[in-house]
Amino acid sequence: MPVITCVEDLRQLAQRRVPRMFYDYVDTGSWTESTYRENQDDFARIKLRQRVARNIENRSLRAPMLGIDMAMPVAIAPTGLAGMMHADGEILAARAAAAAGVRYTLSTVSICSLEDIAEEVGSPFWFQLYMLRDRAFIGRLIDRAKAAGCDALVLTLDLQLGGQRHKDLKNGLSTPPRMTPANILNMLSKPRWIKGMLGTRRRYFGNIMGHVKGVDDLRQLAEWTYDQFDPSLCWDDIEWVKQRWGGKLVLKGILDAEDARMAVKVGADALIVSNHGGRQLDGAPSSITMLPAIVDAVGNHIEVWLDSGIRSGQDVIKALALGAKGTLIGRAHLYGLGALGEQGVRQTLEIIAKEMDLSMALCGYTDVNQIDQDILLPGSYPTL
Ligand code: FNR
Ligand code: LAC
Repeated sequence: MPVITCVEDLRQLAQRRVPRMFYDYVDTGSWTESTYRENQDDFARIKLRQRVARNIENRSLRAPMLGIDMAMPVAIAPTGLAGMMHADGEILAARAAAAAGVRYTLSTVSICSLEDIAEEVGSPFWFQLYMLRDRAFIGRLIDRAKAAGCDALVLTLDLQLGGQRHKDLKNGLSTPPRMTPANILNMLSKPRWIKGMLGTRRRYFGNIMGHVKGVDDLRQLAEWTYDQFDPSLCWDDIEWVKQRWGGKLVLKGILDAEDARMAVKVGADALIVSNHGGRQLDGAPSSITMLPAIVDAVGNHIEVWLDSGIRSGQDVIKALALGAKGTLIGRAHLYGLGALGEQGVRQTLEIIAKEMDLSMALCGYTDVNQIDQDILLPGSYPTL
């Protein structure tokens, strides 16, 4: 067993342990993957300012997101099919998040259901909603999220049509996996994963299966899900969701200052600057380069968060320095999950916290809430 010291170690272990089709689903972006790559590359270009002799003895990473006190300003991003990276993946990741004092966000297209998380974890979490054509189903889903104790709804706006990821088409991605000879052969080389999957009944889209009339078997489920994403989504629908939900609303997938202003106008509580981890519009800018303009446009009126490209605590610090009040991690936690299940997600969160703490301190800061642009080397970061 290798010594795990960084998120990259977890990625490599996940790559060995998870069947290719599901590993590739995570570790890929759309078309040329230029946006996927730039999300990380643009973080790497930003430099921190080393400072000394500033009394860095007592330090704190605690910060609020939506007014909720978090152990650090990092949440777990919603990711579909997490329960295919590891058996019962969403339950395990939500437990790890609860233990670390941060929020887990459950995807609409998760394997474990809202009710599974409520029963098996018992700590508050967030629910991510995709707008589907079947509004009665959306209404029921919102009610189920309330009943499950979710204390925020994250409405994702950037996937009403799916971006094309070449690997998914080539691998024949489906859940449960399509049993082609190549897939069977590949899966047979992943005994831990198989053992886990045979030991759970959770192998389908848990929020959907059994909750929609006429969707009783797998073929119907797949057809229904992919027909349902509603490309006619517009701001009136978002207002409808806000009314119907009545609680804290977060809008995810904003990459433009004009859209950010609309998010303020509809009364969202937070927005997430995101390009869906480079999985949607290839050729769009990285999230971190768009952050300053969005913070400038709306940062006094709404909490601005960021995701896409975060692989380390230093990336979180850079996002905070450029005005984000919170961050989310997608792949970083999935690598932990695929590598080591719950323990792996715990390790992801511990690694990020440790990297944040140490980097902040070596820059002369002791409180994560005080981080501002002065922590960055002038000229090394995106400006307006
Ligand atoms: C996602 N993402 C996503 N977002 C969402 O709102 N609902 C979803 O179901 C999913 N599904 C999903 C699956 C996988 C495998 C990935 C990698 C991502 C996007 C996710 O919430 C987040 O925006 C990105 O993952 C952020 O980029 P990083 O942290 O992965 O670089
Ligand atoms: C994805 C969808 C499920 O990124 O959000 O794969």
